[in-house]
Amino acid sequence: MNLLVTGGAGYIGSHAVKQLISLGHRVVVIDNLFRGHREAVPSEVPFHQLDLAETGEIIGVLKEYKVETVMHFAALTYVGESVNKPLWYYRNNTAGALSLLEAMEICGVNRFVFSSTAATYGEPDSVPIKETNRQAPINPYGRSKWFVEGILKDLVIANPKFGFVALRYFNVAGASADGIIGEDHEPETHLVPNVLYAAMGKRDKITVFGNDYPTPDGTCIRDYVHVDDLISAHVLAMNSLRDGDAKFYNLGIGHGYSVGEILNTAKSVTGRDIPTEYGERRAGDPAQLYADSTVAQTELGWKPVHTDVNEVIESAWRWHTSHPNGYGSRRQDV
Ligand SMILES: NC(=O)c1ccc[n+]([C@@H]2O[C@H](COP(=O)([O-])OP(=O)(O)OC[C@H]3O[C@@H](n4cnc5c(N)ncnc54)[C@H](O)[C@@H]3O)[C@@H](O)[C@H]2O)c1
Repeated sequence: MNLLVTGGAGYIGSHAVKQLISLGHRVVVIDNLFRGHREAVPSEVPFHQLDLAETGEIIGVLKEYKVETVMHFAALTYVGESVNKPLWYYRNNTAGALSLLEAMEICGVNRFVFSSTAATYGEPDSVPIKETNRQAPINPYGRSKWFVEGILKDLVIANPKFGFVALRYFNVAGASADGIIGEDHEPETHLVPNVLYAAMGKRDKITVFGNDYPTPDGTCIRDYVHVDDLISAHVLAMNSLRDGDAKFYNLGIGHGYSVGEILNTAKSVTGRDIPTEYGERRAGDPAQLYADSTVAQTELGWKPVHTDVNEVIESAWRWHTSHPNGYGSRRQDV
């Protein structure tokens, strides 16, 4: 299959590129490198430094590489930033997806795999979260993705040859087994890399936001899915797509780990102390968020294999210790 991967220089997109080429697919990457790393894309994979807004150039790429399917990872991804700069998030994530979809329509590319998010659910009425749970995002980041889901539903009605799958990720963590690529965000907002940075002395301490939640150790519980398992689901979803499909799947392992459990596991994996302080709860942080991924498992035959949090943290630790300065590339301004 000929694929365009957007955001292929980012954390999850680069793992997709790696898995897709290992399966023999022909991949082309676009990324504006605002938060991605050129080094994360293998040199043999065609790379175009383009923004999603550059519809005309994207049309050129779709035609040149005879693209059949688009996997769309490119987005801004920080909840806090989205609250402060909502228009930027809607322009980048929602209008950016629109530009990409217009380019696809012009070129007759009808298969789309979309990185959606558990943030489209907002604060859930119940856990585990099913695809049928009410979607009520509570920040611009979640809404910017939710709007794209709505646009995709409309597109299938207008063009029955179009088919898409929206994958709602929970907390993605870990790194490729060979430790060659991994997570390198600036700033980093995710728990696992930040805990490991504290173990490495790259940050002073970890602040745990709230230890009075109604959970066994009082800290928040989240569902951590290994990045390679997440990408396996993309491949299965892509292969399952047919004309007129409008599919939605939760991607999580189906149970959660508390912040306290992540800290303890990281201490045992690294053999190091992780200085920790306890702070106030953050607004909009539910006590527990974890997925019911039964639909992905039964319909796609997806079976996450790295469900032991030790394994997830070990793989991340291998990456961070072999790349203490990440990819070492400077951020590219756009
Ligand atoms: N990491 C998670 O836990 C998580 C959870 C839920 C959903 N997601 C979604 O998965 C996707 C990938 O996330 P990630 O953690 O790899 O993020 P990331 O920041 O590492 O990767 C995103 C990539 O997209 C690129 N990009 C952003 N805007 C662009 C634009 N307008 N044009 C071209 N390139 C652009 C960035 O440079 C970056 O390389 C995102 O869509 C995110 O919303 C991630």
